[in-house]
Amino acid sequence: MKKLICILLCLVMTLGALTACGKKGKTLDEVKEAGKLVVATSPDFPPFESLEDGKIVGIEVELMQLIGEKLGVEIVFEEMAFESVIPGIQACKYDCGMSGITVTPERAENVLFTDEYCLAAQCIVVTSDSSIASKEDLAGKKISVQTATTAEEFCREAGYDVDSYEANADAKTALTTGKVQAWVVDDLTAAAMCEGDDSVKILDKPLTTEPYAFAFAFGSEDLVEEIDKILAELIADGTVEALFEKYGAPYTPPTAE
Ligand code: ARG
Repeated sequence: MKKLICILLCLVMTLGALTACGKKGKTLDEVKEAGKLVVATSPDFPPFESLEDGKIVGIEVELMQLIGEKLGVEIVFEEMAFESVIPGIQACKYDCGMSGITVTPERAENVLFTDEYCLAAQCIVVTSDSSIASKEDLAGKKISVQTATTAEEFCREAGYDVDSYEANADAKTALTTGKVQAWVVDDLTAAAMCEGDDSVKILDKPLTTEPYAFAFAFGSEDLVEEIDKILAELIADGTVEALFEKYGAPYTPPTAE
C-alpha cells in the first residue's frame, strides 16, 4: 500500500513539474554548448532597455552583454511586449527574461530569479497642472499602467480605476492626451521618459519598493548560480553603478532595502 501511494505521489509530482514547464530551462553546460543565451525583452523601458534608431540600448542591455562575455556566449535579444516575457520564460521559449522585472513572491513561484541587482520604486506621474499631489488623491481617478506590470497589480489591488496598455509609451500618451489623470510606472523609467517634458511632473513619494532581477525557467539553477556570481562581482567592482551613471540614473544597491 505504502509503495502504491509513493508511486502515485511521484506520478503527481512529475506531472506537476511537466505542466509547469513542458521542457526545462537550460543548464550552464547547455547554454555554453549552444554558444548563446536567448534573452526575451520589452525594449520600452528606458534607461534599462529601449530602442535607439532600431538598436537596443540601456543599462540591462549592457549588463547582459557583460554577463554574456563572462559566460563566453553570445547574447541574442528577442523583442516582445512585457506581458509576454515571463510567460515566454515559463514556457521555455527563451533562456532569460530581461525587462526591469520586479521580483515578487507570485512571480518567484513561476520563474527562477537571479539575485537582485538594484532597487527601484513605483511612482505617480501627472500633468503639470494637475491637483493630484499624492496617492490619497488617486481614488476615483482613471490611471494608466502597462499591462502585466507590478504597477497594474498595485493599482488594481488599491481598487483604482485602471486602464492597461500593452506598450509603456501608450500608457504615458494616455496621460498627456487626457484619457487618464495619472500614470503609475517605475521611477527611473518615469524620469527617463519625462526628461525635458514640461507637460508632466513626477510626484516624489514612492509607492512601492521594486527589486529588479533577471528571470529564468526552472531547470536553469546552475546557470543562475553562475550568473549570481558574475552579478556579485559586477556590483562589488562598481561596474553596475557606473552603468547607471552612464545612463544618468541614480543607483540604489539591492542591500539598501
Ligand atoms: N518593474 C515592473 C514589473 O516588473 C515593470 C517592468 C516593465 N518592463 C518593461 N520592459 N516594459 O512589472
